[in-house]
Amino acid sequence: MGLADLTIGEDSSLRAALSQLDRGGPAQLITVDAKGRYSGLIDGGTIEAAIAAGHNLDSPASVAVRPDGALAADADETSLRRQMSRGSGIVPLLDADQRPVDYASPARARRIPVAEPSLSGNELKYVTECIETRWISSQGPFVRRFEAEIGKRLGLPAEQVLAVSNGTVALHLALVALGIGPGDEVILPDLTFAATINTVIQAGATPVIVDVDRVSLNIDPAAVAAAITARTKAIMPVHLYGQPAEMDALLALAARHKLLVIEDAAEAMGSRYKDRPCGAIGDAGTFSFFSNKLITTGEGGAIAFRDARSAQRARMLRDHGMDPAKRYWHLEVGFNYRLTNMQAALGCAQIEQLDRFLERKIEIAGQYGETLGGIDGVALPANLPGLLNSYWAYSIVMDFAALGISRDEFAVRLDKAGIETRPLFYPLHEMPPYRPYAGNRAYPTTTALSRGGLSLPSAVTLSAAETRYIGGVIARQAQLRRLVQRVGLA
Ligand SMILES: Cc1ncc(COP(=O)(O)O)c(C=O)c1O
Repeated sequence: MGLADLTIGEDSSLRAALSQLDRGGPAQLITVDAKGRYSGLIDGGTIEAAIAAGHNLDSPASVAVRPDGALAADADETSLRRQMSRGSGIVPLLDADQRPVDYASPARARRIPVAEPSLSGNELKYVTECIETRWISSQGPFVRRFEAEIGKRLGLPAEQVLAVSNGTVALHLALVALGIGPGDEVILPDLTFAATINTVIQAGATPVIVDVDRVSLNIDPAAVAAAITARTKAIMPVHLYGQPAEMDALLALAARHKLLVIEDAAEAMGSRYKDRPCGAIGDAGTFSFFSNKLITTGEGGAIAFRDARSAQRARMLRDHGMDPAKRYWHLEVGFNYRLTNMQAALGCAQIEQLDRFLERKIEIAGQYGETLGGIDGVALPANLPGLLNSYWAYSIVMDFAALGISRDEFAVRLDKAGIETRPLFYPLHEMPPYRPYAGNRAYPTTTALSRGGLSLPSAVTLSAAETRYIGGVIARQAQLRRLVQRVGLA
């Protein structure tokens, strides 16, 4: 937003200030006196305090002004950064006559992206090595090395890990290699990315969509139990946004009914369920290395198998179903789902940094918790005992009904403040291609979560000033909306 959108005369009414604030953005206004000189900042909180002190909406904005940290327009970078890291909002920039000529904020220089990769390790060196050695296809040493490194993280031998072209084909190949196909039912959560269900359909099996748990956002074991039939072949939990699914309950159900468990761990590299890495708990676990994931190869994925024979079959299917002992002799109808050496080179460089990335994600979650914790109507991602949530995408669920606007309108307000967000996934059962797989089951939890859910910027490249700013904007917007409703301005 431009300076004019964020400036108001201090003799304007509080009503005018509120309705200007209510257009979205950082939820703060810069106030100026009759001569256009800076007098302070105003927001929902300062207006609320003024009203509590006996003022009303016709009172001038000056009664709610908080004189605060402006800087000279020619302030150096260090002072600017220091000032921004002190607060959670905008910093007015003044000329020699104290007139605002611009403002700074962590989102002024760049729109804060919801995700972006960090490629500051050995990525360039290893990819260059591929080019210099001319090993650019899937033949090449980085592929096996990447598989071995993933295996180490998961406590599995390299032979049981397959690098593949993306997280979607990882799911498809896992399903096919484990023998899931026509006539089989696979139970999966309503709240997930479409690839989870698409691949079940592509494998020829029948997906069975069930509701999720309100706290973990993951598949609800009680709903799974209720959906098991004689044709059920597998359960496909998704560790959504890095939060581990309730594996003990699911494994117990699987053991009782002789079902396979395929973990969609696309979003959960680094997450742990009790003492076990997500993706290495079920019969197979799949990962995505798309550029927004904890570690990335641009596009890419992997499958971890619990048993070596399934892995061996998958390896053959990954390479057109070709007999590994006899070139161009095909044993099954297979695929080309291979990852290239260049992508694996990126992956090798990324996995070296995995612990640091994970630490940063957890730090970001802590920083968000500081600004957003305790705000009415904002549910933060759960930090459940014994589980390690990687907080891959820090996702909050807000009570937008109490704010009188929709999730999407709120997202537009944040966008105006330079903050990109992502809606929580839409319930699968609501989308046309998947409606037939809902049966007559109910999905109250997914429906409610989806309407209120927003994933916030979570890249490991975020600065503390950025997370504080994002938290501050959300908190101020929420407070403002409650005030606007209370005073009947909405
Ligand atoms: C839960 C889930 N499953 C599967 C996938 C598919 O992974 P890819 O995009 O690498 O194909 C994703 C991707 O984002 C995902 O979030």
